[in-house]
Amino acid sequence: MTVTPELFSATAVKYRNGELYVEGASLGNIADAVGTPVYVYSQEMLKNQYRKLDAALGSLPHQLHYAVKANSTLAVLKTFAELGAGFDIVSGGELSRVLAAGGNPDSVVFSGVGKSVEEIDFALKTGIECFNVESNSELIRISQRAEVLGKIAPIALRINPNVDPKTHPYISTGLKENKFGILQEAALGLYQQADADPNLHVRGVACHIGSQISAPEPLFDALDQLLSLIDQLADREIQLTDIDLGGGFGVTYQDEASFDIDAWGDRVVEHLGPRGLTVSIEPGRFLTANAGVLLTRVEYLKPSGGPAQANESHADEGKNFAIVDAAMNDLLRPSLYQAWHGVLAVQEHSSSDTRCWDLVGPICESGDWLAKNRMLSLAEGDLLAILSAGAYGSSLSSNYNTRNRAAEVMVSGDGFRVVRRRESLQDQLSTEIL
Ligand code: LLP
Repeated sequence: MTVTPELFSATAVKYRNGELYVEGASLGNIADAVGTPVYVYSQEMLKNQYRKLDAALGSLPHQLHYAVKANSTLAVLKTFAELGAGFDIVSGGELSRVLAAGGNPDSVVFSGVGKSVEEIDFALKTGIECFNVESNSELIRISQRAEVLGKIAPIALRINPNVDPKTHPYISTGLKENKFGILQEAALGLYQQADADPNLHVRGVACHIGSQISAPEPLFDALDQLLSLIDQLADREIQLTDIDLGGGFGVTYQDEASFDIDAWGDRVVEHLGPRGLTVSIEPGRFLTANAGVLLTRVEYLKPSGGPAQANESHADEGKNFAIVDAAMNDLLRPSLYQAWHGVLAVQEHSSSDTRCWDLVGPICESGDWLAKNRMLSLAEGDLLAILSAGAYGSSLSSNYNTRNRAAEVMVSGDGFRVVRRRESLQDQLSTEIL
């Protein structure tokens, strides 16, 4: 079994008569129509994940702000906008995407440590819900720009609670050693400064401690700190109305249990129930990861005497390489984080020639791999689906090796449509001047 039952039930794919489907659409048909590599999303699963999170916060006044960075494709944003989502952005570019997708600027929060003057001005003119401020210097800059533009900037301070989210070090954000947020010690003083500033409207407090978090404890440690800060501010007659708990809810990539969102929601309701605060969250991965797959075709098989069994310790025996047409420029997570993504054959075949393969791309880097040590029965020309690719897949893709970015397809019921055409070489060269 190349994919655990836990993962299989967490994803949008199902086998029907030996062929892999997303909702009612055959992945083989999509690859024939659109070519490969191609990202394929289930719109139904995107919506269901959103509804699960929304339901978890029950009767608390709340707003979901989808973290655009997880997948910023317009059709994905539009899907969430139509469900009433707000958006968490980290650049002016992401704000433009939200607006282009029909998102409401009133429910946009702007996070990130490096907001430029142009980005702040754009957000002020657009009239976003809140700036999640990450430093004293940024607070001063936002105040100055608000004054110049004759606006009042709504702000929250993003607190760095120095809590270990127990996740991959590259995606932990709430430790003192991380660049994000304002330390508790500095927060009180900054709130007082902001409260006295006529260019600023102090709305709330925000926090985001990391990504792919599997256990809720660190999130509640952070929440307790935010509540204690809110109380200290109330003692000084600074009343916050909003609390932003960030994102980070983990999903199943292999056999990890996905984050228990209902149990988390119940505890949040218990903690916050009587306070009358508006709660906001900034989920990215939870909404999109398992709603997407990356379809790729096997170009060449290059068996080199690798083991018949999955066994990393026998690498010196040689390796069997399957060279596929997707690469690290399409899906960077394996190269960047040694991330594990499930791989399934689009057409099941019952060949007994199952071997241990490394799936690698055409890019000229040894780090260009998508999966290692997978027991698969492969032939050249086979189509494969790389699972859990809906978050931080297309949005992290690049043109490395002058490869065109992949096409993207949205499935809804039995139908599908191309929501991003495959990039052309002309698209790539059009920004350059000889
Ligand atoms: N809010 C803020 C301020 C963030 O920085 C992030 C993610 C999120 C929300 C959404 O977190 P999520 O719910 O998706 O875990 N490229 C990495 C993940 C980087 C996450 C960066 N920040 C990956 O592929 O695993």
